[in-house]
Amino acid sequence: MDKNNFDKIFTPEIKTKADALVAKYETKRAAILMILRLVQDHYGYISHEAEAAVAHYLGLPPIDVHEVVTFYTLFYSEPRAKTQIHVCRTLACSLLGADKITRYLEEKLGVKPGEITADGQFSFDQVECLGACEIAPMLQVNEGQYIGCVTTKKIDVLLDDVKNGKLETLKKQKITVG
Ligand code: FES
Repeated sequence: MDKNNFDKIFTPEIKTKADALVAKYETKRAAILMILRLVQDHYGYISHEAEAAVAHYLGLPPIDVHEVVTFYTLFYSEPRAKTQIHVCRTLACSLLGADKITRYLEEKLGVKPGEITADGQFSFDQVECLGACEIAPMLQVNEGQYIGCVTTKKIDVLLDDVKNGKLETLKKQKITVG
């Protein structure tokens, strides 16, 4: 791989972190998931260029890295919104207003399910049961924050919190009910 292209992905900051991760493993190859996670956390997804750079860094054929990226659902090959909102549409949530929540998000964000806002800040989609039907309707933000008994007011608070950089606070709340 061309050195300039490699350096574009593996900035000094990423390289330092990657070296520290690799040092924990007996072989470089064994650190592949951690290195991919590092790259994805930094860029939001793993582009073809990033796959090639990871392959170069680990001394692996690019196809090996590509197979790992496409096998695990926690890796993304396409850009994603910074804040992904997943609205449950299964029975309990559906009966308690999931459609209303979806319509409200469409109106507030100006996008349909599966789309990303023009500024790349938000996307939302509809998912199956999030496993907390007792506090339906539910939604999930990114990969670990849940909001139960969702109302349009709670959505307003959520969107404002994200815009004001308070997503970290939300992360600590984990589940918000009431
Ligand atoms: S049906 Fe929505 S959380 Fe279970």
